[in-house]
Amino acid sequence: MSYKIAPSILSADFANLQRDVEMINNSEADWFHVDVMDGVFVPNISLGLPVISAIKRHATKPLDVHLMIVQPERYIADFKKAGADILTVHLEASTHLHRTIGAIKENNMLAGVALNPHSSVQLLKDSIMDIDMVLIMSVNPGFGGQKFIENTYNKVKELRQMANERGKDLLIEIDGGVTLDNYKILLEAGANVLVAGNTVFASSNPTGTIAKLKGN
Ligand code: DX5
Ligand code: ZN
Repeated sequence: MSYKIAPSILSADFANLQRDVEMINNSEADWFHVDVMDGVFVPNISLGLPVISAIKRHATKPLDVHLMIVQPERYIADFKKAGADILTVHLEASTHLHRTIGAIKENNMLAGVALNPHSSVQLLKDSIMDIDMVLIMSVNPGFGGQKFIENTYNKVKELRQMANERGKDLLIEIDGGVTLDNYKILLEAGANVLVAGNTVFASSNPTGTIAKLKGN
């Protein structure tokens, strides 16, 4: 089974960002997961465009940018310019989601849509064919190191079935509380991109933990 691991920069040491970016470059990780928070959509403020540009200067792998901001459509071209390769917006934050997805693709990025824990995957049945990736939040967004919400497994299975019924090759990303204990169950349920913040960066050997998450 082929899947991607995306370490979350939110748990990196921001005073040693270049070191942590290079650790990911030299690991078996596939993408950089970069969380942007505005203090409105979520009760936290993380990082923005200048920091993403700085990461891009050193990163040798794609930047998977997760926008936890209201009206994300205002900044699509800016995130492309800063270096995003995959741009994910929240269903709950974009009133005209169809137009937003189109704009992300016009800017030559993969288009992702994120769902908060309370949002049903059924809300995507009219968009699934237009989307490259669905990000299922397995914690309430805003902070790293939270406990995984068990209902996520049902959501992944339901979404994978929905995609299969339509012959859609969909990336399903899980974000929040991914550990060495649950990652295999998530893959079996149908996920193929796993974000890991705390599991990677709080471990004594982040590179080794990434290798374990890759099954090695
Ligand atoms: C939470 C962020 C996550 C976070 C995950 O709002 O979207 O990407 O960094 O962190 P862990 O893996 O520690 O739950
Ligand atoms: Zn995220």
